[in-house]
Amino acid sequence: MLTNIQLTFVKGNVILQKSDNLMTEIIYLDYAATTPLDKDVYKEIKPFLTDHYGNSASLHSLGNYAKERVEDARENIKKKLNANNYKLIFTSGGTESNNLALKGIANSYKEKGKHIIVSKIEHDCILNTAKFLEKEGFEVTYLDVNKEGFIDLETLKKKIRKDTILVSIIHANNEIGTVQNIKEIGRICKEKETLFHTDACQSFTKIPIDLEEDNISLITINAHKIYGPKGVGALLVKNGIKITPLLHGGGHEYNLRSGTLNVSGIVGFSKATEVITKEDVIRMTELRDYLISKVLKKIPSAKLNGPKENRLCNNINFRFNYIEGESILLHLDLLGIKVSTGSACSSNTLQTNHVIKAIDVKPEETNGVIRISLGKETTKKEIEKVIEVLPIIIEKLTKMSPFSK
Ligand SMILES: Cc1ncc(COP(=O)(O)O)c(C=O)c1O
Repeated sequence: MLTNIQLTFVKGNVILQKSDNLMTEIIYLDYAATTPLDKDVYKEIKPFLTDHYGNSASLHSLGNYAKERVEDARENIKKKLNANNYKLIFTSGGTESNNLALKGIANSYKEKGKHIIVSKIEHDCILNTAKFLEKEGFEVTYLDVNKEGFIDLETLKKKIRKDTILVSIIHANNEIGTVQNIKEIGRICKEKETLFHTDACQSFTKIPIDLEEDNISLITINAHKIYGPKGVGALLVKNGIKITPLLHGGGHEYNLRSGTLNVSGIVGFSKATEVITKEDVIRMTELRDYLISKVLKKIPSAKLNGPKENRLCNNINFRFNYIEGESILLHLDLLGIKVSTGSACSSNTLQTNHVIKAIDVKPEETNGVIRISLGKETTKKEIEKVIEVLPIIIEKLTKMSPFSK
């Protein structure tokens, strides 16, 4: 893709020029917000938008064909997670799956207890659901995280009570890339006989997950972070766990999520689980570490948000003193480089991001945050471009800042 805006650098001063004849390549580095649709996924989806348009609930052959393909997709996705002993419920995405997990468990287990534990760095769709449940009479414990974004496992153990019905901890954080030790969290929850849900929208297909081995009771995944279509996701629930549906209707999806199935989306979701390879993960990790080390070297004021170890392979998040993340984003955007500040996938507010607040960043640094997230097609050349222009942009903005000396 091309854009027609040029940024010219004159000895540290940046001049923005809009040029009608000069085209700049787009460097997309916002894969944590969403990914492009993979070409093979698109090929798989297309016939279901045109020829195979049957409703998977219809009894005739067009319906049967759609149903068979939905069931193939269900089995294929379950296999990736070792989920033989789980129900996979297709939903409209991560937000719906997380709502279904929290509200569905809260409603089904409210006689047993009304206490839920989440971390302070969950995605907004968990945190706002937790706040909703507090208004409905549930008690929520919001676990602190350390400076790198990890929860403390001993604290978790202590906070689980007899009336705790659910622990929900995000697997890989969408802002700062912290990958929690879900195996250990699962073990603790099993020992304490409480259910464990994890939001794995960012980690699915990048980090191997074994639901049985990791003692995960429920897991949220979606398609648009893994080169699949937008508007489709799933919640997997271990057999035997009761869950109250959010949507009532014709009884689709084991009576847990009514509504005509998004057959093309589901078929595409299944295909998308095969897009990211082990080699892609290794390559993204190398590019991530290269960019981090170069930027930290070239920009003395830059600090890395999130951990060095146990970090999502495609996540980079920096903070800079006394400048606005939005200004950095806009300068990069004019050069064709697409990044995000805070959580582009959940909001466009200018408030300090709750994840950055939770990792105890100094007030003067909380607004100068940018997230750079890599994809399987990200090249070294694109990374070099960021390494070339970011120091110039930061220098200019720092000079302009009324707070910096
Ligand atoms: C960790 C995480 N959970 C949930 C969501 C919401 O998913 P969706 O956009 O499919 O509703 C996102 C992304 O937006 C995410 O990154």
